[in-house]
Amino acid sequence: MTFDRSIKIAPSILSADFADFGREIQAIEAEGADWVHVDVMDGHFVPNITFGPPAVAAFRKHVKTVMDVHLMIAPVDPYIEAFADAGSDIITAHIEAGPHIHRTLQAIRGAGCKAGVALNPGTPADAVAELLDVADLVCVMGVNPGFGGQKFIDITGKVRRLRELIGDRPIHIEIDGGVDQTTAPLVADAGADVLVAGSAVFRGGSVEKPGVYGDNIRVIRAAAEA
Ligand code: DX5
Ligand code: ZN
Repeated sequence: MTFDRSIKIAPSILSADFADFGREIQAIEAEGADWVHVDVMDGHFVPNITFGPPAVAAFRKHVKTVMDVHLMIAPVDPYIEAFADAGSDIITAHIEAGPHIHRTLQAIRGAGCKAGVALNPGTPADAVAELLDVADLVCVMGVNPGFGGQKFIDITGKVRRLRELIGDRPIHIEIDGGVDQTTAPLVADAGADVLVAGSAVFRGGSVEKPGVYGDNIRVIRAAAEA
């Protein structure tokens, strides 16, 4: 994985057909997805349950781009190795998930993956100030995590502050939740480069109508780049 700050669209397969992940992943990649975003939820850190390491390993067989694994679980550390072995390129853990996020990020890198730290809407940008030497990505949640299709919370001020803190370090700023053609330009202008989008990419499409995914991805990308 080489670093750059160009806009990257990362569809969240939380909005895909859960009985057809292989073809859904192939469809979004063929239609222009830059990364594939995988939302892991445990019913404890967030009020929803999705999938564990064996499912993520099965997704890996279909992902040709970058598999971006977002852990909404607590604790995190006991599962890092399993998600690394499942083929994650990036593993992101929440700063709110435990007292030792610094150790968690070191462990993710130690397992051979890029390390991401995610911030809930209530957590300020400055919370990552002492983590920038151990992080490859900061994920700013645009919604309270747990579900797709929620309304965007304005976190653009936080993104601007993060951009300042990061300076020229090779750290991605990712926005997750509520990204669509209306909010994408706001967060891109504030300094984000990775845009996760679930409902805004999958809306109206299917593996039988994958062109809709492509249209949706192009609309979001064009809005962000404008
Ligand atoms: C929220 C997840 C997001 C979610 C985004 O807990 O982390 O990745 O799928 O969904 P949309 O784009 O529909 O807000
Ligand atoms: Zn996510």
